[in-house]
Amino acid sequence: MAQSLLEKAYDPEAFRQLGKGLIDTLANHLQSVQQGRGNVLDYREPADELTFWTNFPDTADFGAWTTAVLRHTTHVHHPRCMGHQVAPPLPLASLAALLGELLNNGMAIYEMGMAPTAMERQLTDWLCRRAGFGAEARGFLTSGGTLANLTALLAARRARGRTDVWNEGYSGKQAILVGEAAHYCVDRAARIMGLGDAGVLKVPVGPDNSMLAGELPRIYEKALADGLEPIALVGSAPSTATGSYDPLDELADFCEPLNLWLHVDGAHGGPAILSDKYGGLMRGIHRADSLVIDGHKMMGLPVLTTALLFRDGGVSYTTFSQQADYLLTESREEDWYNLAKRTFECTKLTSVFCWHAVINQYGESIFPAYLDRQYDLAREFAGMLRERPGWELALTPQSNIVCFRRTPTGAEREACNALNERIRRRLLEDGKFYIVQTRLDGLTYLRTSLMNPFTTRAHLSELLELLESYGAG
Ligand SMILES: Cc1ncc(COP(=O)(O)O)c(C=O)c1O
Repeated sequence: MAQSLLEKAYDPEAFRQLGKGLIDTLANHLQSVQQGRGNVLDYREPADELTFWTNFPDTADFGAWTTAVLRHTTHVHHPRCMGHQVAPPLPLASLAALLGELLNNGMAIYEMGMAPTAMERQLTDWLCRRAGFGAEARGFLTSGGTLANLTALLAARRARGRTDVWNEGYSGKQAILVGEAAHYCVDRAARIMGLGDAGVLKVPVGPDNSMLAGELPRIYEKALADGLEPIALVGSAPSTATGSYDPLDELADFCEPLNLWLHVDGAHGGPAILSDKYGGLMRGIHRADSLVIDGHKMMGLPVLTTALLFRDGGVSYTTFSQQADYLLTESREEDWYNLAKRTFECTKLTSVFCWHAVINQYGESIFPAYLDRQYDLAREFAGMLRERPGWELALTPQSNIVCFRRTPTGAEREACNALNERIRRRLLEDGKFYIVQTRLDGLTYLRTSLMNPFTTRAHLSELLELLESYGAG
C-alpha cells in the first residue's frame, strides 16, 4: 500500500538513508574547508539571496538542498573565517545537537528530559566549582548570552531591588552600572526591564578599553543624588569590540560593601576560568553574584549553548515566581530538576548534550586547549602587525579579538576610515577571508576574532598581504 505523506515523512528507513547522505556530505565539507579549500563565503546581496530561495524548486532532493545550503552559507570551519565570535563547532558536539533535536525533549519539567536535566546539573555544578563558587551555587543552561544576561539582571533585581517589581510593576528609578564597552545586549536587557535611558549608567573605559573601576564611586554617588536605585554592576569578560576584560576583583571590591549585585558577562571569555595560562584574566570571578558563559563562543560548541551561573543558587528560584501549577510542584526539597522554574524559556534546548558528549569523549582539557591556542594566536598576530609598516593595532589583545587598521603614511583620519571600510567591503565580496569591522573613538578598525583552531600564522600573513594588495582601491 502506498505510504501516506506523514508515513513517508516519518519513515525510519528514509531517515537512515538521508542521514547517511547528510553525514557524508558534511564530512566531505569539513575535509575540504578545514584544509582551506574554496572561499569562506560567496557573498550575495540580501535581495539576490531572497530571490534564490524564493525560486528554489520544491521538488529538489534533500542532497541538492543540502548542497545549496552549503554553497550559500558562511563556513565557520574554514581557517580563513575570522569574523564573528562563533566557534567552529566540534563535529562531535554537532552530532550531539542532532541527537537532541531528534529526541526533542523539551526539558521544562524533569520527565520531559531526564538525562539532560541531570547532565545540566552536573555540568553547571562543575562550572560553578571552576568559577570558585561554593556548594550553594547553582546554574542552568539557556538560549544565548543575550537571554542569559537579561535573566541574570532580572534575578539581581528580584534579589536586591527595594521594590517587588514582579508583583507590583515597575515604578521607575532603578539603574544598572555597566562599562561603556559592554555588549549592546546589556543595554537592551535594562531597557526591556523598563530602566530606560536614565537607568543605564555607563562607566568609562581606559586606553585598553576595560572599565575604569576608579570611576565607580563617582557614578554611584551621582546616581543616588539623582534619586536612582542602582541594582547591579555588570562587568565584561571580555567586551565584544576589542575583547578587553574588566578588572573583576576591583569591581567586586566596589560592590561588596554596598551589597550591589555583580554580574559578569563572560559570554565570550568566561571559559578562561578553565585555563591555567589565562585564568588570571578572570581574577575575582568567585566574588561575582552571577556569570554567563557561552559554549558557542570559546568552548567549540554549536549555537546556542549558554550557561548562567549563580553564586547563591537560591536566588535563581525567585526570579520568576509566577505559578504554572500544572508544570511546577511546590516542593520542600530543592526543585533543581524542574528547570522551567528558573529559566526564561518553558520548552528549552537540550544543549547540554553538546557539552556532555565533548567532556565525555575528550575530557575537560579540550576547552582550555582551544582557548589558550586562540588567545596565543592573537598575541602572535598583534606582533606581526607591529612589525609591518602601514598597520596600526588598536590595543594589545587580551583575548583572541584583534582590532587593527591600515594607516598609509600621510593619510588623514577620514581618508583612513574610508580606506579601511573599502578594503573590508572588498574582502567580503572577494570571499577568501571573512573579517569584520568596528568603530573605536571615531576610527574604523578591521576586526578579527580568531576562533578557528586551524588558522595559523601563515593565514594571517596571507590576510595582510591580500589587504595590502588592495592598495588604496
Ligand atoms: C560579551 C558578549 N555578551 C553577550 C553576547 C551575546 O551573546 P549571544 O550572541 O549568545 O546572545 C555577545 C555576543 O557576541 C558578547 O560578545
